[in-house]
Amino acid sequence: MQTITQLDPLRSAVAALKADGPVALVPTMGALHEGHLTLVREAAKRAAHVAVSIFVNPRQFGANEDLDKYPRHLAADSALLEAAGVSLLWVPDANVMYPPDFATKVLVDGVSDGLCGAARLGHFEGVATVVCKLFNQIGPELALFGEKDWQQLAVIRRMARDLDLTLPHADAIIGVPIVREADGLALSSRNAFLTPEQRQAAAAIPRAMQTAIAALHAGSAASSALTGLQSELRSAGFSTVDYAELRDAETLRPLTEIGEGPARLLVAARIGTTRLIDNMPL
Ligand code: PAF
Repeated sequence: MQTITQLDPLRSAVAALKADGPVALVPTMGALHEGHLTLVREAAKRAAHVAVSIFVNPRQFGANEDLDKYPRHLAADSALLEAAGVSLLWVPDANVMYPPDFATKVLVDGVSDGLCGAARLGHFEGVATVVCKLFNQIGPELALFGEKDWQQLAVIRRMARDLDLTLPHADAIIGVPIVREADGLALSSRNAFLTPEQRQAAAAIPRAMQTAIAALHAGSAASSALTGLQSELRSAGFSTVDYAELRDAETLRPLTEIGEGPARLLVAARIGTTRLIDNMPL
């Protein structure tokens, strides 16, 4: 595995890999866990070479979010990626990614609004800007993202469509399904912050979502199914439900019932100091 920190050597290394076959990119901010490795394994099935980027992107952190405290474990991450058979690790520093005169922002209207975008102003603009740069720097034939961050995936796909990106093409932006624990809880690095009681209670998220989905399929209006979902989470010990919404899976337009095209149920809720998110298709 080559580890590269500057643009010129990156371009030569990518050209050499592409001479051998397609390259799949897995963008990350490091502190890698099983979820990232699932993306790497999926990428390896679909391309001759896997490139991974590690860049803690300051532009997607809000004023109240502590960029300096974001975990950075480059040596451990690098060992995991080497063992997973990754060909190229791209680790630009902030000056390479954002030189002092950097002036461009990629704003994806609509899809970025509400849900996680409501609590994290400017977050998806930061994500779209850095992902657009990563795509241009590497020009991967495909790129993989976890479906756990469904809104992020929708923003990136919309950006790729709207900007007519070719490497990767919008259709080559692959969402990898959420990996779940035995009780249905979506895998997340944040699960480690839960006490044993909170961890047990957290399984209420997928359970309440399944109940709401069954109600929607049985003909309930979204308002009543979502009210039921919120009550179930509060009874299980969640202090706040940031959102529980039925949205169009692609445009993220709010839906009042199912049957208007592919839909997605999206939830964010807090238990103790931990905020958990989840989403499911209908
Ligand atoms: O999901 C993440 O880790 C980040 O938002 C991403 C896509 C790497 C952009 O910084």
